Amino acid sequence: MSTVTKAGLEDVVVSTSDICFIDGREGRLLYRGLDVNDLVAHSSFEEVAYLLWHGALPTRKELEAHVKALSATTSRRLPPKLITMLRALPKRTSPMEVLRTGVSALSAFDPDHADNSREATIRKAQRLTAQMPTLVATWERLRRGKAPVTPNPRLSLAANFLYMMSGKKPTELATKTFDVALILHADHEFNASTFAARVTAATLSDLHSAIVSAIGALKGPLHGGANEQVMLMVEEIGTPDRAEAWIRKALADKARVMGFGHRVYRVEDPRAKHLRRLATELGQQIGNENYVKILNTVARVVTDEKKIYPNVDLYSGAAYAAMGIPTDQFTPIFALSRVAGWAAHVLEQHGNNRLIRPRADYTGAIRAEYVPVDRR
Ligand SMILES: CC(C)(COP(=O)(O)OP(=O)(O)OC[C@H]1O[C@@H](n2cnc3c(N)ncnc32)[C@H](O)[C@@H]1OP(=O)(O)O)[C@@H](O)C(=O)NCCC(=O)NCCS
Repeated sequence: MSTVTKAGLEDVVVSTSDICFIDGREGRLLYRGLDVNDLVAHSSFEEVAYLLWHGALPTRKELEAHVKALSATTSRRLPPKLITMLRALPKRTSPMEVLRTGVSALSAFDPDHADNSREATIRKAQRLTAQMPTLVATWERLRRGKAPVTPNPRLSLAANFLYMMSGKKPTELATKTFDVALILHADHEFNASTFAARVTAATLSDLHSAIVSAIGALKGPLHGGANEQVMLMVEEIGTPDRAEAWIRKALADKARVMGFGHRVYRVEDPRAKHLRRLATELGQQIGNENYVKILNTVARVVTDEKKIYPNVDLYSGAAYAAMGIPTDQFTPIFALSRVAGWAAHVLEQHGNNRLIRPRADYTGAIRAEYVPVDRR
């Protein structure tokens, strides 16, 4: 049997895929062949979800039907019994735990839960994409002792989420920034959470189960949890004048700096520049540029000293914080977007399935002797 040459399946190709292409040396990212820079400039998250699931951009009529399915109150609202369940959770439950639990419970209420056909999986993907923002915002309101805000079907997914979080209509810049963040996080080839989703889907399990697996994988600080860790670092640094000394000491102490480095990119992550620009503009709009200034200093020092470059997580948190979103909601926000990619990968996996079942290179004992318990 062949052995693993590099830990963590680094550079191992496990399957073909038509969904997402990353050029780690040139810093390019394509969804279904379209450059993510063009999608940021011209598209919306809703359209990108369609592109990922169906393989091509929609016609106007297709887009209208798709947006309607994603924004209808019947799609966005949570079953009342689920809200009762959420109320029963301890207030200290983290938003990622709530999201994982809530998505699992949503499966029980889904009319297509027992149907794994492509058509039903697309309907479930639409419902989950519509429901997850409501789930995240509802928990935010409940844990603050406030009433959940009813989704507004006239608002885009980005605007409606911000509205449900705060109860106030967001500014145009906040909506645009959030929509761009959703586009940029929507897919990223065989990252850890997507791979987890595909492993689950490959047993011919259902979409909700695959997405619960993915949410569990996204939660860790080496993956989706990094954006929260970046903000904790910014808060610890406090003011821009302290940033240089802080980061130099962290590097001297051999700390792992969150928001930098990537398994695939050898240059700056192409998503980082958009979030840097929008976080800078939002900071100017709210009159607090400290977060971005701290991050710019940290980025200059880490890049100069270690030749490790910013990834998507470096600036996203600064943008979310400028919108008043609490730090522990950053990773759930990542999931609100990545659900589009996860669903696309489940559809692709089911479309040409083979069970994913690798082998281990066994390094344990051979033929150990069983010793009865009273002789150990
Ligand atoms: C994303 C990540 C897990 C990829 O890691 P990987 O491909 O397994 O690379 P490794 O962890 O083996 O790191 C390779 C080298 O770069 C260094 N390195 C990588 N990322 C680093 C970081 N963020 N801070 C400091 N050093 C880092 C490692 O210390 C290692 O150095 P060494 O060879 O001298 O030991 C890693 O870059 C990381 O932990 N980043 C921080 C978390 C983060 O931002 N995650 C979000 C990714 S989008």
